[in-house]
Amino acid sequence: MTAPATAMRTTLLTPADVLAGYDAISALYPHIPPMTVWRGWEYAGYRRHRLAGPVLDVGCGDGQVFKLLWPELTGDVVGVDLDAGTVAAARASGVYRDVHQTAASEMGRVLPAGAFAGAFANCALEHMDDLPRVLANVAAALRPGGEFLFSVVTDKWRQWGGLALLMELAGDPDRAEALRLQHDRYHHHVNGLSVAGWADALAAAGFEAVEHTPIVPEVTGRLVSFLDQLWHLPSAASPTGEVGGQLHPILVGLPDFPAAFRLVVEGTMRMERDPATGGGAIFHARKR
Ligand SMILES: C[S@@+](CC[C@H](N)C(=O)[O-])C[C@H]1O[C@@H](n2cnc3c(N)ncnc32)[C@H](O)[C@@H]1O
Repeated sequence: MTAPATAMRTTLLTPADVLAGYDAISALYPHIPPMTVWRGWEYAGYRRHRLAGPVLDVGCGDGQVFKLLWPELTGDVVGVDLDAGTVAAARASGVYRDVHQTAASEMGRVLPAGAFAGAFANCALEHMDDLPRVLANVAAALRPGGEFLFSVVTDKWRQWGGLALLMELAGDPDRAEALRLQHDRYHHHVNGLSVAGWADALAAAGFEAVEHTPIVPEVTGRLVSFLDQLWHLPSAASPTGEVGGQLHPILVGLPDFPAAFRLVVEGTMRMERDPATGGGAIFHARKR
């Protein structure tokens, strides 16, 4: 029987926390606003936590976010990622002691059991097939009492889809649904669970869900999803094959874009009616 998830704490971020996160993340992607806003909220959510090594970074990406968040853990972290090019970038980053190229649902084959004090998964679990097996593998890799810190999207993210909503309002529901599907496919978003759904999935894998921090509430979420859906629209005219490749040089050419867009981020937070409901969430869980 799995334990109920009712004891989980909810902690809200302040606008000052989020703006500090935006400033930190702007160093990595100053002219990609869907990334600076989403990841700025994530950064702010993690700042309240500590991780002790050795750490497992699941869906590690190129290691840049990990290095920004946890520089003191450089060399005391093992990465896992499915994508060969990403694994090459992670290895070249100098952040990881080791990087395994494998699906997280298969990582139990290559990781020693009970070897890690902490696990981390930034913006990764929602993309992963066979989530129960992925979470069971994270639990198996951790020591008893080991901490698991991760961010995910929630069910709200898809509901709020900004550019798709515009299509609906323009009287084109088919185009709206096609946009949602194309965006889901682009990100391979296969686990858009509710907050309670994520807590249940943790409990089923042997974790206690200690705390959840909602990130990217509705007004911000609608803006970010609008920008993200627009950014990843296929475009034959773009050097990258998507609209973002055309937008990026335009934003680079605008005077003081990162600081000016920060005012937009601040403004959206002033309009939030329900900051406790997020398009994403940071979870802090502990292996039982
Ligand atoms: C949005 S990126 C986040 C990367 C990194 N955590 C970061 O914060 O920059 C998601 C990562 O998960 C990886 N990924 C997706 N599905 C995976 C799977 N089933 N197993 C392992 N990695 C996976 C992708 O290759 C990608 O690098």
